[in-house]
Amino acid sequence: MYHLLIIITTLSFSSINITFAVDEAFPSIPTTFSVATKQHYDVKPIHHEVYDGERKIYDISHQYTPELPVWESSEGLGNFLRLAVSMKNGSDANISKMELSVHSGTHVDAPGHFHDHYYESGFDTDSLDLQILNGPALLVDVPRDKNISAEVMKSLHIPRGIRRVLFKTLNTDRRLMFKKEFDSSFVGFMVDGAKWLVENTDIKLVGLDYLSFAAYDEAPATHRFILERRVSISITIRLSTI
Ligand SMILES: *[C@@H]1O[C@H](CO)[C@@H](O)[C@H](O)[C@H]1NC(C)=O
Ligand SMILES: *[C@@H]1O[C@H](CO)[C@@H](O)[C@H](O)[C@H]1NC(C)=O
Ligand SMILES: *[C@@H]1O[C@H](CO)[C@@H](O)[C@H](O)[C@H]1NC(C)=O
Repeated sequence: MYHLLIIITTLSFSSINITFAVDEAFPSIPTTFSVATKQHYDVKPIHHEVYDGERKIYDISHQYTPELPVWESSEGLGNFLRLAVSMKNGSDANISKMELSVHSGTHVDAPGHFHDHYYESGFDTDSLDLQILNGPALLVDVPRDKNISAEVMKSLHIPRGIRRVLFKTLNTDRRLMFKKEFDSSFVGFMVDGAKWLVENTDIKLVGLDYLSFAAYDEAPATHRFILERRVSISITIRLSTI
């Protein structure tokens, strides 16, 4: 039903051109290179895709770039980041500012996203249950020729008891998240697929690989249905390396 492929950053210590003497206080965790002091400028930070340990953790978030697609726009995210306070200009630190929609990139939808009464009463993403948002998840490959209807959901045979499912779809194959222009023909849930999920599974967290959990044509109705039932939806997840 699914397979996992581990991609590990190929950057290794031997390939880094280290021109300074290794200092005793130097952090031993490679990911902390970016906080190293002045003399370590020529060291590149390592961005992990997979974290090994008691449990394997995969980074499935998209990098924010000006080309990241945005809902119903052909322009992409654009220049959302700027250096507001800069060392080059005499400040003690570099501090960046971001301006972007909270719907950009990898994110969870708030219950208030499609329900005004939730919005008014403060049901933002803070109201989501961290027990649901954290923990093992099942990665499911869905048929590539359909949107996620009740029939598709039924055919996946997702066992009862599974609470978190990430759906890998044609969107990942088409690399839609790496195309600046919004594409409304992406794959997502249909209303009947969402109903089937609520009635026949224990899923409380749904992950999808484009800008919406629901297919474009049925987006409002499907969102209203699923968010009312307090199922968390995590969208725009990056499954291209899993
Ligand atoms: C601080 O910002 C400047 C641009 O003003 C940049 O050239 C420099 O690399 C930044 N320094 C660090 C430590 O990120
Ligand atoms: C630094 O200051 C100059 C002059 O005020 C300004 O034009 C420039 O945008 C500033 N750069 C940064 C990165 O803050
Ligand atoms: C999914 O639905 C969208 C409309 O929301 C449509 O454009 C697309 O072709 C459908 N995808 C598949 C694989 O059927």
